[in-house]
Amino acid sequence: MNIVITGANRGIGLALASRYAARPDAVVFALARDPAAPELHALAAARAGRVRPLALDVRDTQAIDALPSALGVDSIDLLINNAGVPAPSDFGAISGAELNAVFAVNTFAPLLITQALRDRLGTGSKVVNITSVLGSIARAGADYLTYGMSKAALNMLSKKLALEFESAGVAVLALHPGWVQTRMGGSGAALDVDTAADGMVRVIDAFSLARSGAYLTYDGSELPW
Ligand SMILES: NC(=O)c1ccc[n+]([C@@H]2O[C@H](COP(=O)([O-])OP(=O)(O)OC[C@H]3O[C@@H](n4cnc5c(N)ncnc54)[C@H](OP(=O)(O)O)[C@@H]3O)[C@@H](O)[C@H]2O)c1
Repeated sequence: MNIVITGANRGIGLALASRYAARPDAVVFALARDPAAPELHALAAARAGRVRPLALDVRDTQAIDALPSALGVDSIDLLINNAGVPAPSDFGAISGAELNAVFAVNTFAPLLITQALRDRLGTGSKVVNITSVLGSIARAGADYLTYGMSKAALNMLSKKLALEFESAGVAVLALHPGWVQTRMGGSGAALDVDTAADGMVRVIDAFSLARSGAYLTYDGSELPW
């Protein structure tokens, strides 16, 4: 089973990589800006050959185009578009540069990476876009304007990809991890990373083509768009 995870050097991405790496049939391609990051390096050392750290800054469109050959595999069973960035500014202080930076990582990269790897995805493959409840238009609050926009657009991408891949038998999921204690979520978040990652893995395992295009949370419950 070939698994590709972006932003796999820390936080939720690292926790997911470590869970899949524990499966005897899995090879995890752990993509990270710094593939030599200490925790990822330790995981790769502990799971020799089955965790393969690879450099990828998801804003680097040339590197994304080169990803199929960098991975060197014919098929991908699970692609998790996990890398993400927060967008700290409130309305009144948002710059064009911040907008570009947030959308490049949270929205454009999942599209470009999935597109680059489309020929490696086939019947039974799954694409999981790590989104947020803050991308729910139905639940929108006044805060997190730019981040919410980027994740709402990612939700639309997930729906579009589900339709695009339907005939190929590839299932696409928009998955909210919960509010998680990571650098992004902060230490006061509701969930520790292990609880969130365990739940996410259960949801991904149970997920199939029949539910492609769903917007779910780490406990399997459905979110309103
Ligand atoms: N934590 C929460 O409460 C929460 C809630 C809802 C959704 N999410 C989503 O969950 C995902 C993971 O977030 P997290 O909580 O684990 O945050 P995190 O601890 O801040 O980790 C973010 C990850 O994304 C990577 N990343 C950022 N920019 C990148 C780039 N240009 N190229 C490659 N990798 C990049 C980071 O790598 P570097 O170390 O190189 O920066 C890091 O590995 C994100 O999509 C986030 O939006 C999180």
